[in-house]
Amino acid sequence: MTTAIPSPKPWADTPLAPIRTPVFLTKKHDLWTEGASHMCMMHNSLFRGYNTIYHQACHISDADKSDFIGYCLTWHKFLKAHADNEDKSLFPRIEEQLEDKTIFVESHKEHDAFMPQVENFHTYLASLPTPSSFSGPALLEIMSTFQSPFEAHMRAEVQLIASLASHPKTPAPGSKLEKTILETNNTKEGNAFVASGFTDVVPFFMFNFEGDYEDGLWKDWPPIPGPVRWGMMGIANMLHSGWWKFAACDAKKRRRELYALAG
Ligand SMILES: [Fe+2]
Repeated sequence: MTTAIPSPKPWADTPLAPIRTPVFLTKKHDLWTEGASHMCMMHNSLFRGYNTIYHQACHISDADKSDFIGYCLTWHKFLKAHADNEDKSLFPRIEEQLEDKTIFVESHKEHDAFMPQVENFHTYLASLPTPSSFSGPALLEIMSTFQSPFEAHMRAEVQLIASLASHPKTPAPGSKLEKTILETNNTKEGNAFVASGFTDVVPFFMFNFEGDYEDGLWKDWPPIPGPVRWGMMGIANMLHSGWWKFAACDAKKRRRELYALAG
């Protein structure tokens, strides 16, 4: 009998470990358990993206620096769009739906506690005089200034949304109001995500989405029709062909060895 030997090389599940989805943990499927789980999948892709940058930043050849910078800037664009949409749209909408303006007070504060440091990450990469002046240790130094509050917030937000299942104003399971809120939130969040970057942010999410996570429970999420997905990934590969090799997964959502650590 042979036993598979785990690779000694790090993958994209450290230092930020993926978050378990509330659906997987509780087997519940109410409005907020589902919503929190969908949020969790977005956060896990952001975590894997962060981890791919963390592990590869100090191993980028001069020839790959320009592409790696593009990949890193797309992670920033993804996170910035995600946080902005929550602050301006999702959080106020949920507070309106549940007639409670206090739900996300702490979440806004948590964003404020790490997003300025995340902007330093963008400023550093966007103001490099040439790609060859990129320094992995300098980028890791900036990332160390926000890793902890970023991780804590992403975990807390999933828990908070799941906890809304017991909010006194939550509509009854199976009610017309529950269905309306579900459809409104799914449509608005889906549209906002696509608008954040169809040829960069959405592919970044997809290339950092592990289909086998939680026994493949989410392998078909989000529900993007096959031809649309195929077209999107094709355009993404054409426009940014050098970026996606740094991602955690291949186009079929399977784990792969981190490119800059290969060999
Ligand atoms: Fe979020």
